[in-house]
Amino acid sequence: MIDFGRFYQQIATGPLAPWLEVLPAQLSQWQRENLHGHFHQWKKSIDHLPLLSPQQLDLVNSVSADRDDLTPRQRLGIETLLRQLMPWRKGPFSLYGTNIDTEWRSDWKWDRVLPHISPLEGRTILDVGCGSGYHMWRMLGAGASMVVGIDPMQLFLCQFEAVRKLLGDDQRAHLLPVGIEQLPALNAFDTVFSMGVLYHRRSPLDHLWQLKNQLVSDGELVLETLVIEGDENAVLVPGERYAQMRNVYFLPSAAALKKWLEKCGFVDVRIADHAVTSTQEQRRTKWMTSDSLAEFLDPENPQRTVEGYPAPLRAVLVARKP
Ligand SMILES: C[S@@+](CC[C@H](N)C(=O)[O-])C[C@H]1O[C@@H](n2cnc3c(N)ncnc32)[C@H](O)[C@@H]1O
Repeated sequence: MIDFGRFYQQIATGPLAPWLEVLPAQLSQWQRENLHGHFHQWKKSIDHLPLLSPQQLDLVNSVSADRDDLTPRQRLGIETLLRQLMPWRKGPFSLYGTNIDTEWRSDWKWDRVLPHISPLEGRTILDVGCGSGYHMWRMLGAGASMVVGIDPMQLFLCQFEAVRKLLGDDQRAHLLPVGIEQLPALNAFDTVFSMGVLYHRRSPLDHLWQLKNQLVSDGELVLETLVIEGDENAVLVPGERYAQMRNVYFLPSAAALKKWLEKCGFVDVRIADHAVTSTQEQRRTKWMTSDSLAEFLDPENPQRTVEGYPAPLRAVLVARKP
């Protein structure tokens, strides 16, 4: 089982302590009732990984770790165990000679986000829908004092725990397998990230309220999501699928999203970045061998998805809770 006890101890005496009123019960219920069919297999792979302290560690420009004293056999052992946690979607990671070339160049997203946000030094951060935790490590690299990620996907939890073990069992980052809707209003994080989540939410304004409820007063929200071109009244509600994804509900324009944030009480709302997702940023690799963006676009008109909608365009908005 994953041990969340150290996280509970860490938050017991600080501003996150009220979380302990619900979180331990939610996570024990999850461990009892909701484990994925492959979870024990994934957990075995984590257990077989060595606990290593990196001699070379970079979280500032990448997520990479290495040591000089590993044998080729030990390196191969690490690669084999990491392969058992495929598919790897968010990364890349370079761990003791194994380069995990993930479906997404999540580092490109980070490069688009980081220049526009308040410095992360010393901040306590919540990363909602953190995936494998790639950006959480980059947040630590940018000086955050503690990063909590939440994501209900259990494979991502296992990938995160594998990486954490290989980064020396770093206890400044924690991933919890819960959804944003399970969090009480903590009003305790200096920065909250929601990247790639809003379009998966059936009720996007409620999502914005839930994010606001996690921030301290004066805290910063960093919101990244799929958008469409258009004015403040433009919103696309796709049919059954968008770019082959089933669970996509609302794609507003960036101007509409700004208005939604203001309606929820955020101030100083800025549209910081717009970027078309390219087939270099999201693609099939040896670590994620299924269809990817190239197969989700109309082969005759890559400006459109296979369903005929505008191809993926993403925006970053930054806002402050008063
Ligand atoms: C497109 S991925 C984005 C991952 C990462 N934040 C990034 O930007 O690369 C969306 C993530 O949100 C997670 N997610 C979906 N519903 C969620 C919820 N209710 N609360 C928290 N995370 C959720 C999914 O499991 C998935 O890992």
